[in-house]
Amino acid sequence: MSTTGDDKLKKIVSHAKEYGFVFPSSEIYDGLSATYDYGQLGTELKKNIKDYWWKSMVQMHDNIVGIDAAIFMHPKTWKASGHVDAFNDPLIDNKDSKKRYRADVLLEEHIEKIRGKIKKEVTKAAKRFGGSFEEAMFLETNPKVQKYNDQIKMIEDRMRTYLENEDLVALKQLIEELGITCPISGSKNWTDVRQFNLMFSTELGSIADDSNKIYLRPETAQGIFVNFLNVQKTGRMKIPFGIAQIGKAFRNEIIARQFIFRMREFEQMEMQFFVKPGTEIDWYNTWKERRIKWHKALGFDASRYRFHDHIKLAHYANAAADIEFDFPMGFKELEGIHSRTDFDLSAHEELSGKKMQYFDPEDNKSYVPFVVETSIGLDRMFLAVMSNSLVEEKLEDNSERTVLNIPAFLAPVKAAVLPLTKKDGLPEKANEIINRLKFDFNCQYDEKDSIGKRYRRQDAIGTPFCVTVDHQTLEDNTVTIRYRDTMEQERVSIEALEKMLDVKTNVKHVLAQLND
Ligand code: GAP
Repeated sequence: MSTTGDDKLKKIVSHAKEYGFVFPSSEIYDGLSATYDYGQLGTELKKNIKDYWWKSMVQMHDNIVGIDAAIFMHPKTWKASGHVDAFNDPLIDNKDSKKRYRADVLLEEHIEKIRGKIKKEVTKAAKRFGGSFEEAMFLETNPKVQKYNDQIKMIEDRMRTYLENEDLVALKQLIEELGITCPISGSKNWTDVRQFNLMFSTELGSIADDSNKIYLRPETAQGIFVNFLNVQKTGRMKIPFGIAQIGKAFRNEIIARQFIFRMREFEQMEMQFFVKPGTEIDWYNTWKERRIKWHKALGFDASRYRFHDHIKLAHYANAAADIEFDFPMGFKELEGIHSRTDFDLSAHEELSGKKMQYFDPEDNKSYVPFVVETSIGLDRMFLAVMSNSLVEEKLEDNSERTVLNIPAFLAPVKAAVLPLTKKDGLPEKANEIINRLKFDFNCQYDEKDSIGKRYRRQDAIGTPFCVTVDHQTLEDNTVTIRYRDTMEQERVSIEALEKMLDVKTNVKHVLAQLND
C-alpha cells in the first residue's frame, strides 16, 4: 500500500473507533485479530446499507424473494459445494520474516506493480506530447508498454494454468523466477507452497469425533441452494427467479488485515438467480449492469469503480467478474458476479438423492436450473462508503473540518436537533421536534458546547442536517437548517423541515433511479 493509502486507512480506522462506528473485537483483552464490532453509529450505517440492498433486490423485483437460513448446515452441504475439497488458499511462508502469504496474491501484487509502470509511462508521455497526446494509440504502440503487457500476460497465463492444475511446485518456481521478495524481510527465502482449507469447523453435540464435525458456513449461498425447492414450491416461483439473503459467513483467512476489508467473521449480501440453461450469460451480463448501477447511484465518482474479469474461475463458475472499488489500498474486490452454472444444484441432487429440478411449463420438461449469483461483502461496502466519505476540508478562514459526507440516505443520524441555549424553553421545543420526527428519522439531541462545536461533531459522524432551535422558533415555529456539505443555513418552518428530510434522506428516491 502507498504511504498515502496507508495513512488514509489509518485515519478511517481511528475515526471509526473515535466516533463509535467500528471497535476492535473484545478490545479489553487486546482484541482478536481480524474481528471487529460495530458500534452505535456503525450499526446504523450498516443497517442502512442492508436496507438499500434488500429493497433494491427483493422489494423492487417481484421475482426475487428473501430468506434467512441457519449458519450451521449439514456437513454434506460443504462436500457437495466443493468447499471441503477445494476451498483452499495456496500458502507460502517467508523463512526470514516468518510471514505467511497467499502465493496468488504475491503474484497479483507483482502484476499490479507492472501496471503501475505502464501508468507512469502514460503520465510521462502525456506531459511530453501535451494536447496532442492520444492515450489509446500510445498504449497500443509504445514498445515499453507492449513489453510490460507481454510480461503481465505471461504471468497471468502461467498463474492460471498452475492454479487450475494445482501445480504448487511450478507456482513457487514462478515466484522465484520473478524475483518476488517478502515485503517485510526483503528476502527471497521462500518455503514450498501448500494448500490450506479456509473453513472453520466445530463439533455438533458433546462428542468430539469426526462424524460430528460441522462447519461455520464460508458463504451464505449454500443456504439458498438447499432451500431452492422449498422456496420455488411454496412461493410458486417461475423461472427466472431469485432468492436473496443477508447473513454472516466465516473464513479462516490467512492474510486477515486491512481493517474490515478481510475479516474472519463477516457479512454477505447474496442473491442467486435461477435461470433456464443457455440463458445464463445474458443474465450474467444483465446482473453486471444492474449491480454497477446500484453502486453508482450512491453518487461517488464513477472512476472509483471498475470491473475485473476473473483469470482463475472458481470451481463452480463459467464466467465471473468482480466489481472493484478504489479503496485506500488501491482497487480491490467489493462484489462478485458469478455465472455458477448448474454446479451447486446438481451436486446437491447427487449427494442428497433429492431431485433439484424445475418443471418448465413452457417447454413441458424438467431441468436443473443454471444460476447467476451476485455476492457483495457488507463490511467491504461499509469500508467503501467510509473511504469515499471521510474528508478533511480546509475552510475559507483557514480552519479545518473533518466531515463524513455519506450519502444522506445512508447517514446514521439524519438530523441533529440543537437548542441554541439550555434555557428559555428551547430544550423542550427541540425535544418536541424530535418527538415529531423520530417515527421516520433517526435524530440526535445535543445541547452541550457552542453551536459551532456541535456542528463539527455532527459533520464528523455524517449527519446531513443540523436543526437549530432558537428564540424565534418559540414565536413562529421556524428553525434554522444547516447543511453539512455546503455549511449553508436557511430558515424553514417545522412542517417544511419534515417534508425536506423525507425528500433528502428517504432511500426511495435513490431506488427510483434503479427502476429497470
Ligand atoms: N458465494 C460466492 C462468494 O462467497 P466470494 O468472492 O468468495 O464469493 C463474495 O465472496 C464477497 O464477500 C466478496 O466480494 C467480498 O466482498 C466478501 N468477502 C469475502 N471474503 C471476505 C472476508 N474475509 N472479509 C470480508 N468480506 C469478504
